[in-house]
Amino acid sequence: MEIQLWREILHPYEQAVAELVLKFRCLRVEYKKHGLYSPIENVTGRVKTISSILEKMQRKGVPMEEMAEKIEDIAGVRIICQFVEDIERVARDIEARSDLEILNHKNYLGNQKKSGYRSYHIIARYGVQTIIGLKKVKVEIQIRTMGMNFWATTEHHLQYKYKGEIPEHISAQLQKASDALMSLDREMSEVRSEIIDAMNDSRIKNRIVKEILGSIENLYRVASEREVKKIQDEFYEVFSHGDLEELKRFQKQLDIIAEGYRAQAIEHPLLDEDDK
Ligand code: GTP
Ligand code: MG
Repeated sequence: MEIQLWREILHPYEQAVAELVLKFRCLRVEYKKHGLYSPIENVTGRVKTISSILEKMQRKGVPMEEMAEKIEDIAGVRIICQFVEDIERVARDIEARSDLEILNHKNYLGNQKKSGYRSYHIIARYGVQTIIGLKKVKVEIQIRTMGMNFWATTEHHLQYKYKGEIPEHISAQLQKASDALMSLDREMSEVRSEIIDAMNDSRIKNRIVKEILGSIENLYRVASEREVKKIQDEFYEVFSHGDLEELKRFQKQLDIIAEGYRAQAIEHPLLDEDDK
């Protein structure tokens, strides 16, 4: 087939990957904007190379006219999660989307493949708008933890090195490594809620500090410099202890002080003018 024709064939796949990567990355941004923990850690995508498509068609005996139907991973999107629980959450969310028609899913989380491979796969149909109208393509979405990704990437490199014939002792090592990563994922799951709590605390702390600094800045307009300086020093003191509850208490006190100044300004609206 001519190179130009390949370009035309692959174009909608490239568009699908670009759009889906952006959409999933936007989900992460949205979680963060709402101050929520994001089950999506990282999103990448790729279009299969021509040589790899040809090699797979040859291996599976797929004729050219059946390529789009039979080779399901020409467009590939990979979502990396921190915890196994996040994979299930992300998979459920994807399967409920209206822009993807779910064709199939494979769950290699609990029942890993013989190689030791673990991941969650979704095969879906996705429509892209092209200059000649709507074009639907198949996409493969792989959802996995960082540990699963580490394993799959390493094993893939070894497959490449040994041309698909990994020596027995190495594949045994890989299976052992897969088991170790599985128990690591399990242990990480046990601390998941603590990690999420810590992330939430740090987010709340950032917000409170930002609000306190804003209030102190406002106070400069109404209170004496000496007083604001004193408040500022107190803030640094509280901040250095790193205690969230203490920061919350400090913010409340600061609100009362600011409220006091606001009340004064209402009682004596012309005070500033008279002072001039
Ligand atoms: P393919 O013919 O490779 O598409 O396999 P399949 O049709 O049986 O689908 P499967 O869900 O098993 O694999 C789809 C994709 O998952 C592959 O193209 C790889 O990217 C990945 N994958 C599956 N098994 C393994 C494995 O043992 N090791 C690694 N590194 N990746 C794998
Ligand atoms: Mg496949």
